[in-house]
Amino acid sequence: MKIRSPIVSVLGHVDHGKTTLLDYIRGGAMAQNEAGGITQHIGGTEIPMEVIETICGDLLKKLDIRETMPGLFFIDTPGHEAFTTLRKRGGALADLAILIVDIKEGFKPQTYEALNILKTFKTPFVVAATKIDKIYGWETHEGLSFIQTYKKQANNVQEKLDNGIYELVGILHDEGFESERFDRVENFAKQICIIPISAKTGEGISELLTMLMGLAQQYLKEQLQLEPDAPAKGTILEVKEEKGLGVTVDAVIYDGILRKNDTIVLTSRDNVITTKIRSLLKPRPLEEMRDSKKRFLKVDEVVAAAGIKIVAPKIENVISGSPLRVARGDFEGVKEEIMNEIESIKIDTDEMGVIVKADTLGSLEALVSMLKAMDVPIRAADIGDVSRRDVVDASIVKNANPEYGVIIAFNIKILPSASEEIKTTGVKLFSADVIYQLTEDYAEWTAAAAE
Ligand code: GTP
Ligand code: MG
Ligand code: NA
Repeated sequence: MKIRSPIVSVLGHVDHGKTTLLDYIRGGAMAQNEAGGITQHIGGTEIPMEVIETICGDLLKKLDIRETMPGLFFIDTPGHEAFTTLRKRGGALADLAILIVDIKEGFKPQTYEALNILKTFKTPFVVAATKIDKIYGWETHEGLSFIQTYKKQANNVQEKLDNGIYELVGILHDEGFESERFDRVENFAKQICIIPISAKTGEGISELLTMLMGLAQQYLKEQLQLEPDAPAKGTILEVKEEKGLGVTVDAVIYDGILRKNDTIVLTSRDNVITTKIRSLLKPRPLEEMRDSKKRFLKVDEVVAAAGIKIVAPKIENVISGSPLRVARGDFEGVKEEIMNEIESIKIDTDEMGVIVKADTLGSLEALVSMLKAMDVPIRAADIGDVSRRDVVDASIVKNANPEYGVIIAFNIKILPSASEEIKTTGVKLFSADVIYQLTEDYAEWTAAAAE
């Protein structure tokens, strides 16, 4: 029986080092190039088993699962508080998880939130206590295992590290989990492993990946078995225009097999659609799907777990975050399944309020949740570029209530006809590629207007 790659989600508080950890594993530099220094979309990277074996060295040899597993599929999630929906989606997709905690900062609000997501989905996880290189007096040994680098540290430095770990053990205990530094764990079935690492120097990452593979062996063997001809199940990450290809969708396939010419069922703005796949484009191993400079390989089929770009007709209005299913005959059944899944991703709106537009459903939900937390009513929340209709809509609101007669746009274009309409109506537009910038700018603007 074939085994698929497990999906490993990386979760944790903002800036605790999720993307940097993945950068170390894939040999990339994604974190440095993010707008505002924060992750604002879900990403995915396939890490082949050879790469994991190279990082782990001898540590992995004892586990027999590595023989059959093609690799690990990592999902990067945003840590900023606004992105609860994306964290949940990342958590829901995960077979395993890494909970990242900055050893000096300890548990923060989104660390707790991430832990609760893992509880909800009963996802096996390890804790990476990261940024150990920032402990005062730490002597860096690039790429060394934690055990080896720990031995080389001064006593008081070792003590500082262990105090950090004990704090984590205490909090995890209060949250209902027994845990211990991984090399002191006696019962792997009962205790959560805490692995001290540095994503900057690579220290401890060999043990982190080894513990992860151990979890996969312990919990996932059956879950990862791939039926020979199972139809694919996936989640849409993005809908994007690509040069030379037209509109494409990026998806994570978490189960089954997806083939060129398959008929797939997707969710569009107001209804469920079926379409036939024209081509399948796979990001190369070690490349982050959401990297705009990535290159793709044309393939005839893709086996879970994997990221894939799909070219197909009629997909312009497909919703990010919505499910993907292969339909083989039972269209109505698949449609019903999809309808149930999308019930949970609708946004409530008010008659009088601001117009919100964003590039993906995940970022739209994040923006909406931030505005709601500020008690800003929302008239419309939608995906896509700012259109003339949005401006007309906002100007109607403006006449009744200037404070709300605005457009708040995240990471999208302003269509020329919309720019024209903005000039004539004087509707205020907030546009940025960093989500908290938008809410800050809007708050400043309303405060200034009130004076
Ligand atoms: P969000 O996706 O926005 O939640 O952040 P993140 O968790 O992905 O953190 P990111 O990788 O963006 O790292 C945040 C900052 O911490 C960056 O400046 C990194 O260079 C730094 N950083 C991450 N890991 C380490 C580490 O192990 N050691 C040190 N010294 N710095 C680190
Ligand atoms: Mg990140
Ligand atoms: Na960050």
